Amino acid sequence: MNDAELPVQVPLVTEAWGIWQSFQAARRNLLELIPEIATRQPIVSGRTGKRWHMVMDPAANRHILRDALADYPKSDVTKLILRPGIGESLFVAEGAHWHWQRRAAAPAFSPRNVQALAPVMTAAAQRAAERVGTQAGRAVNLFDEMVATTFEVISDVTFTGGERFDRDAVHRAINAYIDQTARVSLLDIIGAPGWVPRLARMRAAPAMRSMKAMADRAIDQRRDSGPSPVPDLLDLLLEGEDPETGRRMTTAELRDNLLTFIVAGHETTALALAWALYLVAFDPAVQDRAHAEAAAALQGRAAGVADLPRLKFIRQIVDEALRMYPPAAFLSRTAMRADTLCGREVRRGDTVMLPIYALHRNHRLWPDPHRFDPDRFQDPRAIDRFAYLPFGDGPRICIGASFALQEAVIILATLLSRFRFSRVPGREPKPVLILTLRPQGGVWLKVAPA
Ligand code: HEM
Repeated sequence: MNDAELPVQVPLVTEAWGIWQSFQAARRNLLELIPEIATRQPIVSGRTGKRWHMVMDPAANRHILRDALADYPKSDVTKLILRPGIGESLFVAEGAHWHWQRRAAAPAFSPRNVQALAPVMTAAAQRAAERVGTQAGRAVNLFDEMVATTFEVISDVTFTGGERFDRDAVHRAINAYIDQTARVSLLDIIGAPGWVPRLARMRAAPAMRSMKAMADRAIDQRRDSGPSPVPDLLDLLLEGEDPETGRRMTTAELRDNLLTFIVAGHETTALALAWALYLVAFDPAVQDRAHAEAAAALQGRAAGVADLPRLKFIRQIVDEALRMYPPAAFLSRTAMRADTLCGREVRRGDTVMLPIYALHRNHRLWPDPHRFDPDRFQDPRAIDRFAYLPFGDGPRICIGASFALQEAVIILATLLSRFRFSRVPGREPKPVLILTLRPQGGVWLKVAPA
């Protein structure tokens, strides 16, 4: 099969790069920092100001993410990018401060609670199908549609009913934050301290301030009014306490965590959906199978949690989309002590990266890795757990993974049961990694009734 018959990918670099070139590439597309050999080797090391290693080996991943967690905290780059928006919340905190927040938040994401939130997802899927339906016969940017849909879900499960909560204003502020502040600057890559002002970040600051104030008001209002009839994430977090110490979150801690869920949860899930739609449009035979499964299971309804057991192929498509275009395509850690990874010397202070995009397309781990084949996931037990890390793994695995998968399957099944999506010639999306792996220019597909 030649490349023209494969879904879009990024040409990875084949030569050693200096700091200036890295700076240029990071501004353009962080994915272009990943050398092509990272899809063939277990580890690639280099020095760009700082010593770094890219690791694409399941055993080493297990060591970094699980067994030696304390030796590999999230890197300063990650924290510098995220802290101005979401404070010392679950995503950014380390050690004891991370641990108690994780223990307090975990029950909110228990299988029972995630299932109880499904009606919000079903309602958003129904509204998305109605919006898409009005555009039948035209090319539609499905990425924008999916961002709108997942934002509805996450804002409905965080701040439902908050009269003073202006959903559009929060969405605008979050987008400004992601667009402007998350662009990785050269200062971030070489690890300059957080107090060095970053121009773009300063521009987004006023929007963030008013968003935080709005969230604080919504939280205080909920404290006064008591829980909603079906508890949402805010109610569950308000109730949450660290079982070991009894500590509960303050308003500021609650707000930082809820904003974290919004930032970490909506664009990532929208990306999974947009890439999945691109892939099914790419492969009409897969789309036929997916439509048949969804139409038989749903009979014209929007999908709900009870339908999930009959939507196995839809789930495989989501799994494969997360392999080929992992929304969080790049995890980054700092080594706190000397170590050896894949036989390579790691020194204290080295940056250790897990380029998930390259791991998921590594030829040693995946046969024909650039090919779209949802049947790879027919038997989930056949997948090497640390070769497939769309949600990370170990104690810091994504707390929202089952929430995101449930939401993605509900929305994708609803859309594929009703519509047929086809590619628009000349409008292929280009994968670009900023903080997440985004389709530059959107995912434009032609929509027709199925
Ligand atoms: C397809 C959608 C999603 C993807 C691909 C994704 C991916 C990830 C990844 C890779 C990590 C680990 C980062 C690292 O180890 O450096 C993570 C952590 C996290 N995610 Fe997600 N995520 C998704 C959806 C969500 C949702 C829906 C929520 C919340 C509602 C969420 C909340 C979080 C939080 C709070 C963490 C930090 C957990 C901790 O450090 O204890 N994510 N996510």
